[in-house]
Amino acid sequence: MKKKVTKAIFPVAGMGTRFLPATKSVPKEIMTLVDRPLVQYAIDEAREAGIKEFIFVTSRGKGALEDYFDHAPQLEQELRKKGKDELLETLQSTNMDSGAIAYIRQHKALGLGHAVWCARRLIANEPFAVMLPDDVIAGETSCLKQMVEAYAETGGNMVAAMEVEPQHASSYGMLDVAEDMGQLVKVRGMVEKPKTEDAPSNLAVIGRYILEPSVLRNLNQIKSGAGGEVQLTDAIARDIEQENNVYGYRFRGQRFDCGSKSGFLQATVAFGLARDDLRDDLQAYLQSVMQVDKAAE
Ligand code: UTP
Repeated sequence: MKKKVTKAIFPVAGMGTRFLPATKSVPKEIMTLVDRPLVQYAIDEAREAGIKEFIFVTSRGKGALEDYFDHAPQLEQELRKKGKDELLETLQSTNMDSGAIAYIRQHKALGLGHAVWCARRLIANEPFAVMLPDDVIAGETSCLKQMVEAYAETGGNMVAAMEVEPQHASSYGMLDVAEDMGQLVKVRGMVEKPKTEDAPSNLAVIGRYILEPSVLRNLNQIKSGAGGEVQLTDAIARDIEQENNVYGYRFRGQRFDCGSKSGFLQATVAFGLARDDLRDDLQAYLQSVMQVDKAAE
């Protein structure tokens, strides 16, 4: 029987330079889509997928992220006193069980692979998820839940995969596909940020992974050899060389790249329009802006 995936690593130690100056003092993961920080979307997704232990790899200046997960008894009491039950419920839905969250420090931003490696002692010999909160995925069933269900059938390593335009291949890890089975593809190799003409397929890896502990052992070796950034995709690709399976999973849902300004703005509009309390106003505003734009043309 395959082991259940109950632990997730959230590497959030990057510098977030694309959002400077905001990220001088605000961790990117705390920036809000409508009224919830990016990290809350990732936590909700993980919970839906059955994750019980949440491991954050953080760095200097991420204090606000740790504070966010504290309970707020005084605030809860105030809301209760004022009869603001709905807000109280919203607040309480973000409370985490005692001991469910662990924080590990990545002392130097040596890359995503290195960040995952930093959490190795909390993983032991079991499969684990990696989630990048920058990638926000809207859909009926959480992306990680879909992957956990598929993983229960396949085992091996699994990465979330998404079709991208050829000219965007250089922003992603791209899959070299051995066999296309529809929702799942069997992966022969992975190329990190290739030029358009070198991309082995149009399937890009995005920030959701289910990995075997062997990937951590690979990271161990890569880490001691590499001078620059330690890539997670290299460690996964090594698993293929060691005859372990790697699958790409075409998830159902819409992914927003909230690590970029444009993606973040698009997500803000999409999540705003999805809210009953905001839709009408926002829609009217967007329509009026579009009309002004058209008139100016
Ligand atoms: P990004 O490539 O988006 O880098 O990292 P970044 O620092 O967050 O943002 P920019 O590019 O400077 O604007 C992808 C994910 O990997 C984590 C980041 O926190 C983010 O979740 N990461 C990256 C680490 O945890 N450590 C690293 O050394 C690098």
